[in-house]
Amino acid sequence: MFLHKALRLPSTMNSQSKAIARANIALIKYWGKADSNINIPATGSISITLDALCSETVVSFEESLSADEFSLDGESRPEYVPRISRFLDILRERADIKTRASVISKNNFPLGAGLASSASGFAALAAAASAALKLEISPRELSIVARQGSGSAARSIFGGFVEMHADRSKDGEGSFAEPLLESSAWPLEVVIALTDRSEKAVGSRQGMNRSSATSPYYVAWLDASAKDLDRGRDAILNRDFQMLADVAQSSCLKMHSVAMTTQPVLMYWNGATVECIRAIQKLQQDGVPVFFTIDAGPQVKAVCESSAVQHVAGALQAVSGVKEVILSGLGAGVEWG
Ligand code: PMV
Repeated sequence: MFLHKALRLPSTMNSQSKAIARANIALIKYWGKADSNINIPATGSISITLDALCSETVVSFEESLSADEFSLDGESRPEYVPRISRFLDILRERADIKTRASVISKNNFPLGAGLASSASGFAALAAAASAALKLEISPRELSIVARQGSGSAARSIFGGFVEMHADRSKDGEGSFAEPLLESSAWPLEVVIALTDRSEKAVGSRQGMNRSSATSPYYVAWLDASAKDLDRGRDAILNRDFQMLADVAQSSCLKMHSVAMTTQPVLMYWNGATVECIRAIQKLQQDGVPVFFTIDAGPQVKAVCESSAVQHVAGALQAVSGVKEVILSGLGAGVEWG
């Protein structure tokens, strides 16, 4: 099962499509690859898609272009072109064309700071490029393609609660995401505390490869994953907030324990990150339904029941070092426009 060719495209072509995808945050994290070449994660993961953090991407395949081009938020970014070209090659090969593309992308949030810009970015790119190439592609196949750009991008194809499967076998066709629960079935809210707007020094791809090679806790982390996935899935399907809070925080802290015990050390947190964790622990002691999760960056994401969102936002806004608080509900999967 892989991409089908709906239409035989002419050998010369000009074709354009636009897609929107949203960022997601993992509640049960992945950190490590089973295969770096085709980007198979070492473990499954479970995420929520966020409606407030969007990437909008227009892809135009143009015969007049001699090389792929990429601009982000109105600025040409040639440093990203090699990775984008390799990704587009997967789709060009399926469509049996060589035409180069112009990729114009806009994010409504800071890039590379642990807000999953690669997830929404590669999901939008996969969706826009496959539409421009007129490939007939199922959502699962699109997820497999997006995974090859960025592991977490596979999950941004879908909305609400999403599970990513990691099948270590063969060609990666068993490593795809699929919806677990619609957002309307459990409309949780997320308060994102931005503690630093700059790009992280060590990206997740490099970081996780370093962790698998050097952290003494890496194997224990992999061993714990299946149980965390089962608990996370059960908590979501039963809408059990406390159970989800316990397993999500544990998954986050285990991932960061692996990162911190990596050589050279991967310390994604800053002082405000720790203060946000303490503020959330205080809210929990006061009975507020909220828990934290943190990706490969210093921002803290507080997931809460909708009744608690203003209370949580106020508490995190008051933490010294928090630059901005972003509120988000759960969002939809990719959309073409
Ligand atoms: O999407 P990637 O391959 O850059 O990795 C993302 C890793 C984490 O965000 C830290 C965890 C996750 O499961 O999303």
